[in-house]
Amino acid sequence: MKAIVVHNYGGPEVLKYEDTRRPEPKEDQILVRAIAAGVNPVDASIRSERGAKFFGITLPFIPGYDIAGVVEKTGAKIAKFKPGDSVYAYLSLKDGGGYAEYAVATEVEAAPKPKSIRFVEAAGVPVVALTAWQALIDTAKLSVGQTVLIHGGSGGVGSFAIQIAKARGAKVIATASTANQDLLKQLGADVAIDYTKQKFEDVAKDVDVVLDSVGKDTLARSYGVVKKGGFIVTLVSRLDQAELDKHGIRGASLSVNPDSSELAEIGKLIDANKIKVIVSQTFPLSEAMKAQEQVATGHTRGKIVLKVADEPK
Ligand SMILES: NC(=O)c1ccc[n+]([C@@H]2O[C@H](COP(=O)([O-])OP(=O)(O)OC[C@H]3O[C@@H](n4cnc5c(N)ncnc54)[C@H](OP(=O)(O)O)[C@@H]3O)[C@@H](O)[C@H]2O)c1
Repeated sequence: MKAIVVHNYGGPEVLKYEDTRRPEPKEDQILVRAIAAGVNPVDASIRSERGAKFFGITLPFIPGYDIAGVVEKTGAKIAKFKPGDSVYAYLSLKDGGGYAEYAVATEVEAAPKPKSIRFVEAAGVPVVALTAWQALIDTAKLSVGQTVLIHGGSGGVGSFAIQIAKARGAKVIATASTANQDLLKQLGADVAIDYTKQKFEDVAKDVDVVLDSVGKDTLARSYGVVKKGGFIVTLVSRLDQAELDKHGIRGASLSVNPDSSELAEIGKLIDANKIKVIVSQTFPLSEAMKAQEQVATGHTRGKIVLKVADEPK
């Protein structure tokens, strides 16, 4: 099969488009024929030795945590899926990732693909939607009527976080640059802040929850906007316990995990038209390098996705 394989650590040039062996599903795995693969900032991090070690990945490897495709074959212990099923999944990468014509997934990693969207959109969902869900629902316990400040609302995680928070009945304040103010509104943000023109702390005050996907100064300035008893979830940093204590708030650094039941819940919200998937750019699999360069800008609007095969009719 064709795949992108990383044999050496380095820049985007280490992403080699080549022929490699198709994986065989173990008894607890499904073999998925990929139609599309999502691109995430972490895909670039694991090209470095430090990043690969942190995420427990060894060379050579096929990147790509996100995949949408059709089940080709099932292992003996698979009960939930059968050949021909359309699925999307957050892969572990242990047996290869989604930048390939075929990949294997376990039942914990995969869920039925939402019927109302194309594969190319579905591939943009798993990692970022699960991150937003696990941050807001599982960790911060966001509830009806609460106010949440979502930094980076126009990116992969942020675009899902805004919509999940709205579906939860929360009030959403979201930040992005000037070019993405329209997107924040389109996604349902009640208040859109242009971080290039305005300090978010001048607008967002006494919020219940902050979702931080930016870190550094943005995180440092976020402690002060949370009301006593509130919560900060960061995806990119360690929290400063002294700052949390000073403001009487709690917090957590999140590391996302595959979860098929949450992915199925997210799929239902997509099919109920409560969550839109924004794919701003697609690239053929062979141009994964260009896709990763684009993601590395840190200014992706929605998602960037690799097209692996034609959408089935
Ligand atoms: N811990 C975990 O488990 C986990 C899981 C998923 C992602 N992450 C991390 O979370 C981060 C975001 O991921 P992603 O997939 O959403 O990335 P992304 O799609 O590249 O989105 C980044 C977004 O951040 C916005 N942004 C950049 N600088 C900003 C600033 N100073 N203030 C507010 N917004 C700003 C950008 O909007 P503009 O273009 O408008 O500036 C862009 O929309 C990445 O570092 C990723 O590695 C961690």
